[in-house]
Amino acid sequence: MSAYSDEYSVVGIGFGPSNLSLAIALDEHNGKGKTPLAATFVEQQAAFGWHRNMLLPTAKMQISFLKDLATFRNPVSQFSFISYLHEAGRLAQFVNNQDFMPTRREFHDYLTWAASNFSDRVAYNSRVTAVQLPDGAGHGPMGHLKVKVDSTLEGGGSKELLAKNVVISTGLVPKMPPGIDRDERVWHSSEFLGRFGELDKTGVRRVAVVGAGQSAAEILRYCYEQLPGAQVSAIMPSYGYSIADDTPFANQIFDADAVDDYFHGTARARDSFWRYHRNTNYGVADDEIIRDLYQRAYSDEVAGTPRLNFLNLSRVDAVKQVGDEVRVTLQSVRTDETQDMDFDVLIFSTGYESMDPTELLGDAAAYCLRDEEGRFQISRDYRILTTDDLDVGIYLQGGTEHTHGLGSSLLSNIAIRSGEIVESLAARGQSMTLRPAA
Ligand code: FDA
Ligand code: NAP
Repeated sequence: MSAYSDEYSVVGIGFGPSNLSLAIALDEHNGKGKTPLAATFVEQQAAFGWHRNMLLPTAKMQISFLKDLATFRNPVSQFSFISYLHEAGRLAQFVNNQDFMPTRREFHDYLTWAASNFSDRVAYNSRVTAVQLPDGAGHGPMGHLKVKVDSTLEGGGSKELLAKNVVISTGLVPKMPPGIDRDERVWHSSEFLGRFGELDKTGVRRVAVVGAGQSAAEILRYCYEQLPGAQVSAIMPSYGYSIADDTPFANQIFDADAVDDYFHGTARARDSFWRYHRNTNYGVADDEIIRDLYQRAYSDEVAGTPRLNFLNLSRVDAVKQVGDEVRVTLQSVRTDETQDMDFDVLIFSTGYESMDPTELLGDAAAYCLRDEEGRFQISRDYRILTTDDLDVGIYLQGGTEHTHGLGSSLLSNIAIRSGEIVESLAARGQSMTLRPAA
């Protein structure tokens, strides 16, 4: 036993679904009488939350309930969605409902239920501000990293954890068009419900939602329903919404085997994955909502009270405040011409960037290997390759689209991925002589 209490085999940075799934896989590994891996997790939110600002009342999951935190790795896990339903007393009703896709609200409840079993291992209200090299770095091999945690929100000050392995799972990063900043009237979809709740709706007559993906479609419908006196516009670069391909053959790209095909594939093969199947996830929306929005627009036309405006083949080029209004410069994709339009509120549903841990890794990033395009080199077990000087497992859950494929930021494979990471952690050994005992 070391003299330092804040030393761990594994420090998980972020506690969203990916690292929650890892916590479950670790728990099940430790419970099998194997040498236990001591883990702790750091989460900046005050409590477990999964894209809370997009928990719109009718929004549904874009994945089968069976692709939960554990089932694909361990079908008899106590943390499966079916276990949750059983405990909630809704298993029969769920089956009667005959729908593979629960609402996001129900899935959020499931995730929260699962997370509640791990509260002793998660520091909420705490943010990892940096991962640092150990003291005396540069003189011989380094076997651990220091993880700086700011818990001031919790009134706990800051502290340092020593980690033999880190698993970074900080999630997608909201993306705004270049040169456009958020403010009181200009939001990103990731902050939508919070902002909408605080908005003084009196006098809101013109709202615009930018983008043609699932977020944009859901927010457009919500604004249309919640602001019956407002004109609600969709600004989209395409001719109309395109459908998310979730048909069975295409869906196979999210199977666990597809990770191997992508990982071991040639550059040409990887390019084919993106070329043929990007429309399973990016810039696309579900069939149900596309048809529903069209139907609503058509019914309004029939009634002579049109309220939904589709400004297609248009990109937002610039935004500026004019009095209480937001002036938007739209550029036509068709003619390149620009026009200005004024709105009371503008919601950018312009997607997300993939997770990039470079900043978080600080000095340690210099010991991580990159490919010719400057991206991290990552092994099949989701570990960033490092120089021999750094003998620390730096694992990524997310940010591996270039090596592990399209599902990297999604839920599809988190159960299997977590299991693979646990196997890798176990194989690396967990002797924890991080520092000599004081
Ligand atoms: P996630 O972003 O969920 O969690 C990361 C966590 O890290 C957050 O809780 C964050 O607070 C924390 N964090 C970040 N930086 C930190 C730091 N420095 N210190 C401490 N904590 C930190 N996919 C899918 O397969 N099916 C679906 O139905 C959906 N639905 C969906 C809806 C919406 C609105 C969005 C935006 C995305 C989806 N997705 C999805 C994709 C989505 O990426 C996926 O569902 C999970 O959120 C991925 O889980 P992670 O834990 O990897 O990231
Ligand atoms: P997205 O799919 O990346 O879509 C972003 C959209 O914004 C694209 O249509 C993009 O067009 C457009 N855009 C970008 N810049 C623009 C500009 N300057 N002007 C006009 N349009 C612009 O993002 P998302 O809809 O947020 O989806 C992200 C992820 O979250 C997906 O995995 C999605 O499935 C998931 N999601 C799930 C749910 C759910 O489970 N119910 C709900 C919401 C989101 P270009 O591509 O041409 O730039």
